[in-house]
Amino acid sequence: MNYSATTVSLPGFSSRLSSRPSAHSNLSLRQNGSKAPGFFSKALRSVAISTISAVITLILFLTTPLLAQPAPQPTPVKGALPPYDLRVEYLANPLGVDTAKPRFFWKNRHSERGQSQTAFELIVSSSPSADTGDLWESGKTNGDSSIQIVYGGKPLASNRTYYWKVRIYDSEDKASPWSEVARFDTGLLVPSDWKGEWIGSDGLLRREFTLPEEPRRARAYIAGLGYYELHLNGRKVGNHVLDPGWTNYKKRVLYATYDVTRLLRKGKNAIGVMLGQGWYKSRALMFELYVEDVSGNVTEIHSDTSWQTAHGPILEDSIYHGETYDARLEQPGWDRPDFAASAGWHQASGVEAPGGVLSSQMMPAIQVIDTILPLTMTNPAPGVYVFDLGQNISGWAQLRVSGPAGTDIRLRFSELLYDNGLINQENLRSARAEDHYILRGDGTTEVWEPRFTYHGFRYIEVTGFPGTPRLDSVRGRVVHTAVSPAGNFSASTQILNDIQHLILWGQKTNLHSIPTDCCQRDERMGWMGDAQVTAEEAMMNFDMAAFYTNFLRTIRDEQAADGSITDTVPHVWGQRPADPAWGTAYPLIAWYMYQNYGDRRLIEDYYDSLKKYVEFLRSKAENGLLKYSYYGDWVAIDKCPGSLVSTFYYYYDTKILTDMARLINRAADAQAYDKLAGDIKTAFNREFFDPKTRSYGPTQAANALPLFIGLATDKERGPSWSELFNDLVYEHNSHLTTGIIGTKYILDVLTSTGNSDLAYDILTRTDFPSYGYMIKNGATTLWEIWQKREGPSMNSHNHPMLGSIGAWFYRALAGINIAPDSVAYKKLVIKPQMVRDLNHASGSLSTINGKVGCAWSKGNRQVKLEAVIPVGGEALIYIPVFKLRNIQLTEDGTLVFADNELKTSLPGIKSIEAKGGNLIVRVGSGRYAFKLTGE
Ligand code: BGC
Repeated sequence: MNYSATTVSLPGFSSRLSSRPSAHSNLSLRQNGSKAPGFFSKALRSVAISTISAVITLILFLTTPLLAQPAPQPTPVKGALPPYDLRVEYLANPLGVDTAKPRFFWKNRHSERGQSQTAFELIVSSSPSADTGDLWESGKTNGDSSIQIVYGGKPLASNRTYYWKVRIYDSEDKASPWSEVARFDTGLLVPSDWKGEWIGSDGLLRREFTLPEEPRRARAYIAGLGYYELHLNGRKVGNHVLDPGWTNYKKRVLYATYDVTRLLRKGKNAIGVMLGQGWYKSRALMFELYVEDVSGNVTEIHSDTSWQTAHGPILEDSIYHGETYDARLEQPGWDRPDFAASAGWHQASGVEAPGGVLSSQMMPAIQVIDTILPLTMTNPAPGVYVFDLGQNISGWAQLRVSGPAGTDIRLRFSELLYDNGLINQENLRSARAEDHYILRGDGTTEVWEPRFTYHGFRYIEVTGFPGTPRLDSVRGRVVHTAVSPAGNFSASTQILNDIQHLILWGQKTNLHSIPTDCCQRDERMGWMGDAQVTAEEAMMNFDMAAFYTNFLRTIRDEQAADGSITDTVPHVWGQRPADPAWGTAYPLIAWYMYQNYGDRRLIEDYYDSLKKYVEFLRSKAENGLLKYSYYGDWVAIDKCPGSLVSTFYYYYDTKILTDMARLINRAADAQAYDKLAGDIKTAFNREFFDPKTRSYGPTQAANALPLFIGLATDKERGPSWSELFNDLVYEHNSHLTTGIIGTKYILDVLTSTGNSDLAYDILTRTDFPSYGYMIKNGATTLWEIWQKREGPSMNSHNHPMLGSIGAWFYRALAGINIAPDSVAYKKLVIKPQMVRDLNHASGSLSTINGKVGCAWSKGNRQVKLEAVIPVGGEALIYIPVFKLRNIQLTEDGTLVFADNELKTSLPGIKSIEAKGGNLIVRVGSGRYAFKLTGE
């Protein structure tokens, strides 16, 4: 994938914990080693590692620029470089694009600062080598946008490959070289492209066919429910696992598209499909194969009752309970031609269609992302071996074993251990989390991993192993949706890096085609509250554009005629209508898509449905108040009234709808919803602000929510802030008592009121309740609740929802903010909060418009700040002056500001102004290294 991996943070800054996920390669086998907690004994570990980390930090700090330099260009090009990171519908060279007018994206680079794109030229062609576009030539089109460019050419046909390239014109109207040629494939655009029928399966399905000539272009389209694994001529096709993504199958079934040209050959070929039950709880296949050969003949194969089916080696598969695989029942050659089918094979029969429309899976698939060798193996009871991965993950274990045929090896998974070293599965509730592998026993080393289940675990218990296992007899396979990492954050205070580690692991291991609440117990649902609070953090740490595009459609699929939506999506658990704090995921994530990725088309497409949702809320409101609430500020220590939380979101959703209406020119709606928001605000203050106590209530969330969203007017703002401040500082000694809702907003409130120091105090606490408390107690992912619990009660140890604060790391500590009048990181406000004893922080984001970064350090009467602004971008950079006098500012060694005036004009620097305790530097694109000194 052409995804720039340049990092702008200090390399190795967080040496203890790999706060950045490794490259998405399922080939990498890494010894988890010193990167993972658990390597040293707990106490020793934190002392030793923070010392090492501090030393490394110091060395790096003295020797490296704050922002690592970009990778050297092979030929130093002057002017605009070729556009890079070309995408279609957010994806690089996607297959199966099923949008009539797909959108194009690219990123720009320029050798000079202060540069922007003023026009672009894009061609789409049916040939990779063409210099003209037989489908579309945009011509030189004025515009500074390199994102969301809508295709404007001839209608696209189903199942074709198209090629495209782009060049841009810079501020001087000079053209860049053309980009490399990118491509996209269309999916099956009309229902009649699907010629096959839904067929059932006993587990295995197969079909042979003959090709008259060598294939030139072949595509397989597969929707295999609940889960499938596709094989061609003895090989697994692609790297998807636990595919397709989970939807409401009655409304929509996702299909995957594979380029299988190289797997086919002239003469006999065979297709094999294994099906598991997944969330569908049954097995059904829809399949199409289109092969064009070198002579232009087209062969089409589709699923029908001519396919053969038989039981395979998988005896049982269940997402929660695990998989049982009897290797003695394997049928070697079943997925190759000339297989001598035994008596167990019979013709497949047609089954009832799931009911949903077939849509292309236009998001990264779930994949095996990494492989972790255990850190330790213990033997707490005879025949019982317990492996510790040192990291709580989602996925499964890969087993290596040789032994007698029929030996049944049991693998059980847990997040926790009892004091006696045995695994503690109590918090999994009814999920058995137990795999069985029954040996083939042919004398070889048998390597096995399950296909149709996954677990959330750190520990693996092995029983029934023939002999004594070795440390590498099992390996952890990290499995989740393969979203690309997009953010990088580190800081000089180690606990912040440790929290970032929990957030990253909690977040990614809960992306399983939908955002899940947890990955271990009998749940793993798309709980919408969890999804909405984490969405901004997720969009900073990962490239979530395609993932949430899919999720929003899945939400819309659950919307009822009355506009209501559900607590979980797809809807299995929870209620309809959703708790308003859960349902808000729909408008909020849609709006975040606009803010982060500039996705205006999504707002246009979803506006009517979102309006219906807000109208549903209105129909339930009484005098401007939305009172129903099931969870409110969920898992809070100090409960805030549910009606306050619900009305807060009623107001928030209405305000967002107002902004959406404005954006897409629905003036009358904008006015009407603005008025509605005003009415809700009046009702909110009347109902919840208590003139006697002069606050919204005795909890942190009760005051933080209205302060965050501006529900508090001049009258309520001061007193409710005092109440919040007193509660945080005096009553709780800088600890949060909020649940997932209050926690999401409270740090932003502190920063916007000039109290980032207090936010920092809160985040660096290590006693209960705090993130540090989780870390001190061995957490490697975020807990569900603040309390340390390990029994059968609700206490998942991998719940991403309290990780919403991850967005604050980037916005406040690294200072990276989208300017209020901008979206998609085009205009920026870089305003790092250089709090207390934090000496350094750095953050970078691979935004849709290119890399944005800020790294700063302070101390010794100086502040250093390095920033990276993408081409076409503009930023206001705030450099705090602290109490320094006679300040001077240099940029890369050149004095640019002293005696309160500009000294030298440098490219890209537009103005510098001393104001409100800051030097405010306005810059265009490029890389800047400022140093402020004073007395
Ligand atoms: C889930 C939560 C979810 C909640 C609803 C729990 O069981 O794990 O994360 O949001 O139910 O209150």
